[in-house]
Amino acid sequence: MHMNAEQAVREHALGPEHLAGAMALSRAANWNQNEADWRLMLRLGQGFGLSAPDQTLLASTVVLPYETEFAWISMVLVLPEHRRKGYASRLLRRALAHLQDRRLTALLDATAAGHTVYVQEGFADCWGFQRYALSAKPAATRPQEPPDSRIRRLKDSDWPRLLALDAPAFGASREALLRALAQRLPEAALVAERGGELCGYLLGRDGREARQLGPLVAADAQLAQALLTRALRDTAAPLYLDILDRQTGLRDWAQQQGFAVQRPFTRMVRGAARAPGDPATVMLVAGPELG
Ligand SMILES: CC(C)(COP(=O)(O)OP(=O)(O)OC[C@H]1O[C@@H](n2cnc3c(N)ncnc32)[C@H](O)[C@@H]1OP(=O)(O)O)[C@@H](O)C(=O)NCCC(=O)NCCS
Repeated sequence: MHMNAEQAVREHALGPEHLAGAMALSRAANWNQNEADWRLMLRLGQGFGLSAPDQTLLASTVVLPYETEFAWISMVLVLPEHRRKGYASRLLRRALAHLQDRRLTALLDATAAGHTVYVQEGFADCWGFQRYALSAKPAATRPQEPPDSRIRRLKDSDWPRLLALDAPAFGASREALLRALAQRLPEAALVAERGGELCGYLLGRDGREARQLGPLVAADAQLAQALLTRALRDTAAPLYLDILDRQTGLRDWAQQQGFAVQRPFTRMVRGAARAPGDPATVMLVAGPELG
C-alpha cells in the first residue's frame, strides 16, 4: 500500500501553474517568499516539483544559474506531513544532474534542517550568515553618512558601475536578478559614492512576512551602515537583513538598532574548493534563495 502511494508521486517541472502550491510550501516553512519571488526565480531558473495524484505540490527545488560557472540551488521545501520520505534528496539529485549536464558548480545557503541533507549529497561548508529581524522601527537615528561620502537613490546611469562592483564580490554577473530587485523596493535601491567613485549599493524587496534588505556590497562597514540608515528611514518594518558572520561591526550595529537574530544559514559548495566571490565586501547577501 505504502509503496504504491509513493510510486504515484509525480516528478515534473515547476511553472506559473504551480504558484499556489509553491506559496503553500513557503508558508508551511515560515519562509518569506511571495508570489513575485517565485515568479522571478522560475523566470531566471528552472524549478522541479513532486506532486501527489490529487495534484497537491508536495516538494520543490529551484536551480538558478549564474553565468557559466555556477548555479544556486534553492527552495528545497517539503510539506511538513511529507518529510523524511526522501523527497528533498530525490529533487536535489534531479537538480544536481541538471547542473552536471551544464558543467555548473552547485552553491546553496543551508538551514540547519537542510544542512543534514546536503552533507549527505557531498556539499561542504564555506561560511555563515545570520538572518536579523526587526519587528518595529527604532526611534529616528541620526544620519551616519561618513563626511566624505554621499548616499542617494540608484539611477539608471549607475548600472555599469554597480555591476562592476557586484560581480567580483558575488563571483558572477547577476544583472537580470539585480535589475528585477531594483523594481521591487525602490526606496531601498541606494548607492554610496566616495570621491566620485561608486563604492557601495543596496537593494531590497517586499516579502510574505517582511521586507528584506540586501544584497549590500560596500567597501567598508561604515558605508554599509550609512546605506542601511537611509533605507531604515524610508522603509517600513518588519525588516530582514542577512548579515555575514564575518561582518562583526555591522552585526553590532544591527543589534543596536533593535534587530534580533532569527536563524543561521551556511553557504555550501559542491564540486569546488570554495564558494566564488569575495565575502570581504559582501555585507548582506540577497537571501538564501538567491545567493
Ligand atoms: C529540510 C527538508 C527539505 C528535508 O526534506 P525531506 O524530504 O524530509 O528530506 P529527506 O527525506 O530527503 O532526508 C534525507 C536524509 O536527510 C536527513 N534528514 C532530513 N531531515 C532531517 C531532520 N529534520 N533532522 C535530521 N536529519 C534529517 C536524514 O538522514 C534523512 O534520511 P532518513 O530519513 O532516511 O534518516 C524539510 O525538512 C523541509 O522542508 N524543511 C523546511 C525547509 C528547509 O529548511 N529546507 C532546507 C532549505 S536549505
